[in-house]
Amino acid sequence: MSVSAIHAEHVYKVFGRRSAEAVRRLEEGHSREEVRPLGTAAVADASFEVRSGETFVVMGLSGSGKSTLIRMLNGLLAPTAGTISVDGRDISGIAPAELREIRRRKVSMVFQHFALLPHRTVLDNAAYPLEIQGVDRSSRRDKAAEALAMTGLAGWEDSLPSQLSGGMRQRVGLARALAADTDILLMDEAFSALDPLIRREMQDQLVELQANLGKTIVFITHDLNEAMYLGDRIAVMRDGRIVQIGTAEAILNSPADEYVAQFVADVDRSRVLTASSLMTRPVVTVPLSGGPSVALRALREAQVSAAYVLDRRRVLHGSVYDDELLAAHQEGRESLDGLVHPDSSAVGPDAPLSEMFAPAAEARLPLAVVDEQNRLQGVVPRVALLEAMAPAPATEGATR
Ligand SMILES: Nc1ncnc2c1ncn2[C@@H]1O[C@H](COP(=O)(O)OP(=O)(O)OP(=O)(O)O)[C@@H](O)[C@H]1O
Ligand SMILES: [Mg+2]
Repeated sequence: MSVSAIHAEHVYKVFGRRSAEAVRRLEEGHSREEVRPLGTAAVADASFEVRSGETFVVMGLSGSGKSTLIRMLNGLLAPTAGTISVDGRDISGIAPAELREIRRRKVSMVFQHFALLPHRTVLDNAAYPLEIQGVDRSSRRDKAAEALAMTGLAGWEDSLPSQLSGGMRQRVGLARALAADTDILLMDEAFSALDPLIRREMQDQLVELQANLGKTIVFITHDLNEAMYLGDRIAVMRDGRIVQIGTAEAILNSPADEYVAQFVADVDRSRVLTASSLMTRPVVTVPLSGGPSVALRALREAQVSAAYVLDRRRVLHGSVYDDELLAAHQEGRESLDGLVHPDSSAVGPDAPLSEMFAPAAEARLPLAVVDEQNRLQGVVPRVALLEAMAPAPATEGATR
């Protein structure tokens, strides 16, 4: 039984002197604009759960309340109303000392502008949270060096931040959060200051780290492609309210409202749609236990020239081709031995569109989608890939 890593319930943050009154109005459904005279409603009625080990992305336009929200998750800001639990512990009203303890042991934050200490070496920067935790010098240096290696900075330990590029500085920021070895990482626009190529590299690295370390990550961005690439689930914020929470696919395919629809209209779909969402049942498959005539008959029925060969457990063994089957049949052969071409292009159900193009271009058959035991789950016809890449038809009422 795993508790959710973070649980927010009806969380409000209003900046201003009449904040409690503003919350009451917001609860009645008044908008941020309507309560403006009472205060700035940065976050209104936010409820969500971040599951342990997931990457939860919060996105929205500038001013929508993202930073305010993430700062409440580690207690840097106290909510005006509502509750926030970390690891099942309500942090809303706890003592400052306890809150500091949570920030040390449970939740680290990576900031947009690195926030490095300029006169300290890269290693000492990465070791800083451990120093605050009171970890002894040699073990904190070991841990920091390890975290730097994880982010590709081995060899730079003794450099000063000023000697590093922007991307490398951001890696130090990430290494520092990793060195603290907290289960939860909060990242507020952590990659936004980087140029696109380095940013892509950092995204890949985060995905890899996440796969290896299984952290719980709350990642803020206003870049939709980044959100869709990194997020297991995405919360879209508008004017302080969360208007939709869901997987990238769900948000892309059924946006909750016109605002979200317009947001996702720009996304690079090739990084989002996965094999499992595009696959269909194969028109025909051939049993491994059958012979050439069984296979030929199946191809003829389906009017195709090739098919995948499966055993009784649906494990994919490869494909067979009509011309070779026919020749074998005429030779009087009774088994498929030597006729099954192994398939090296099969992809997993989570393969993104971008990884399906190359294999699909070369294959004689629709791309096979297999599970971990190499059992056939479905196939992705090339036309499905092409359609997925085509721009969505304009929706009525969309103003762009
Ligand atoms: N300390 C504060 N005092 C008063 N108003 C604030 C404060 N912090 C944030 N706000 C207001 O709250 C709203 C939400 O701000 P927030 O920084 O959370 O947005 P954001 O989504 O992170 O935007 P960005 O993408 O530009 O970083 C804004 O209108 C902002 O002006
Ligand atoms: Mg912000």
